[in-house]
Amino acid sequence: MSQSVEKLLRALSLKEKCGLLSGVDAWNTRAVGDVPSIRMHDGPNGLRATQGALALESDPATCFPTESAVASTWDRARAANVGGALGAEAAAKGVNLVLAPGVNIKRSPLGGRNFEYMSEDPFLTGEMAKSYVNAMQDTGVGCSLKHFAVNNQETNRMNIDAIIDDRTLREIYLPAFETVIKECAPWTVMIAYNRLVGPLCTENRWLMHDLLREEWGYEGVTVSDWGAVSDRPATVAAGLDLEMPGFVEHDDAVLRAVESGKLSEELVDVCVRRLIELILLCKSVNTKPGECPPMLNRRIAAESIVLLKNDGGLLPLIPAQRVCLIGPFGMQPIIQGGGSSRVNPSGGVDVPLEEMRVFDPPVTYAQGFRTDGARDEALLKEAVVAASKSDVAVIIVGLPEGAQSEGVDRPDLALPAVQNALVDAVSAVQSNVVVVLMNGGPVLMPWLSKARALLMVYPCGQRVGGALADVLYGVKEPSGRLAETFPERLEDTPCFMDFPGGRHEVRYSEGVFVGYRWYDARKIAPLFPFGHGLNYTSFAYSDLEISQNGVDVDVSVKVTNTGRRVGRAVVQLYVAPPAARQPRPVQELKGFAKIRLGPGESGTVHMTLNERSFAYYDHGWVVEAGRYELRVGFSSRNIALKASVDIASAGPRHVYTRHDSLQDFLNSPAAGQIKPVLEGFFAQNEGQDLLGMDIKAIILSMPIRAVATLSGGAFTEAQTEDIINLANS
Ligand code: GLC
Repeated sequence: MSQSVEKLLRALSLKEKCGLLSGVDAWNTRAVGDVPSIRMHDGPNGLRATQGALALESDPATCFPTESAVASTWDRARAANVGGALGAEAAAKGVNLVLAPGVNIKRSPLGGRNFEYMSEDPFLTGEMAKSYVNAMQDTGVGCSLKHFAVNNQETNRMNIDAIIDDRTLREIYLPAFETVIKECAPWTVMIAYNRLVGPLCTENRWLMHDLLREEWGYEGVTVSDWGAVSDRPATVAAGLDLEMPGFVEHDDAVLRAVESGKLSEELVDVCVRRLIELILLCKSVNTKPGECPPMLNRRIAAESIVLLKNDGGLLPLIPAQRVCLIGPFGMQPIIQGGGSSRVNPSGGVDVPLEEMRVFDPPVTYAQGFRTDGARDEALLKEAVVAASKSDVAVIIVGLPEGAQSEGVDRPDLALPAVQNALVDAVSAVQSNVVVVLMNGGPVLMPWLSKARALLMVYPCGQRVGGALADVLYGVKEPSGRLAETFPERLEDTPCFMDFPGGRHEVRYSEGVFVGYRWYDARKIAPLFPFGHGLNYTSFAYSDLEISQNGVDVDVSVKVTNTGRRVGRAVVQLYVAPPAARQPRPVQELKGFAKIRLGPGESGTVHMTLNERSFAYYDHGWVVEAGRYELRVGFSSRNIALKASVDIASAGPRHVYTRHDSLQDFLNSPAAGQIKPVLEGFFAQNEGQDLLGMDIKAIILSMPIRAVATLSGGAFTEAQTEDIINLANS
């Protein structure tokens, strides 16, 4: 391919090359000379491409579960199903790239686009995104991994400057991108709107060249988010290959910059060469067109539903019960969020009430509240009366259209007041209340104690009605798990003081303590913890086995279905590090596996850990020697089995300097030389009062450079240098 790329490149004039640097419209690259154009469409849960950049209605397409729902399955195979089906549908429509998946981390539950992202945890996000991307690109359709990087809010998203430290960036906000880029080679990476510690991401050469190309070895195309380019010549110099949507003025600006000598043509050629490579790939690959079987879409949706509570086994419903369904989402369910991911669902949307009546025809219905939030006493009264005449009331509440959308963050975690009032009023006359949440993120639940059962239904596509009915009546087992923490209060959340930041910048002052990492470190009890989810059956974990070869650790766990119904268990593996030089999270998710078991059946799941599973970032990935605890759990707060492994240090050797403390040197090869001297000194000064200070702690924490200065000649600079050299030997 390289000859034809070079041949095509050489055949283009400078003006033609500049014309390739931006699209011809909102969805297509420009055809120039013998270089054809390629097409791209949104988005993560279905194809969207309006006829014009601002046109609203897009062609009908399958509306899949959103990423928040896919992640809640904790099932890599389901992520692959969605990525593969979406790719096949794109191939059938002659679309070359799908602008998905989004892998930004859910820093705050207020994030307006969180329904479109996977998790608060980078490992879960990376694992699910890997499966999604591989399956999509296997159909011969490329993806666009987005939004690179640290695009974690909608407020002022095109200008906000994300002020973040290197360690937090590396440990939390980059790993999902790194995993997918290194293991899947996504055809494109979409560069985010925001600034990253100063420069716009689209002008950030460290991000797009030093990190993406040099360190991670990425060879695909970088494409701007739509309208994210300010100074196109500067973005070419930083390594932005393609600007979208098309903007001829920017193409001309690049032409002028080259002609005036401000920008080297070589840099233009680097971008154009990658674009031509991508275009030739799209044109040469054998695609696998297809369409998603509706039942698959419905099954994935059902497996994304999280059973948060089920007191006394109220669920699954029994058709003989008199069931009343309450809430307008029972007729018009929430299937997706707002913004560029919005799909015009082909083939209609399942209606929960109709799907429930397939199992249980006499299900009654009452609207209960208005989606515009206006009080309506008549609706409320009607719902209360209907509930009082039933055996079970199923109330669907949630965030109405527009309450979770690209471009705007949520103001708070509350459900509309009329919905809370409805749950209170119904539970006053009916003790068997099932609440179904249809929202793209956590909400406050002041009525939680009044609901015997509670289901969390992330926006899971156009088959949500059938999926919900399947779970309510036990045709499908709920097997979802929370991929984000549900807090008791907004004030408990990690970035409560720093979200969405000020007029110009947002500070990631919580550092790596995002999501469960925060609640664990602060010992805050969440409403529902990361990884939580129940089944209609029960499981037991046993026979935790470890086989270790250095930092490579294989973990196996036996899972037994101890209940009377089939079910899927999600085994979660957390690594708890020993005390380290850096403050570290109490535990971090580093493995998970989902397994389906019939009643009484057992099966074994396997998870593997590697060097990165134990590492933290400190000017490079560092593994400190020590005993690490492996925790196997039903959730982050429900650990069933534990084991420990001793891990030797790994990663870039620490280079000792005169600024390291004596304690540091006691952990170095120079320990043997220092220890006797220190022990003699401490013995000599036993019981001495040094201004009421703990002399031992003071001395040990002192940088070695100060020891000679303060030792009154007992310790010389030459000895200091000897010790440093020995420590680095
Ligand atoms: C947007 C979104 C991006 C989307 C693009 C095209 O503003 O941030 O996710 O793919 O425009 O619609």
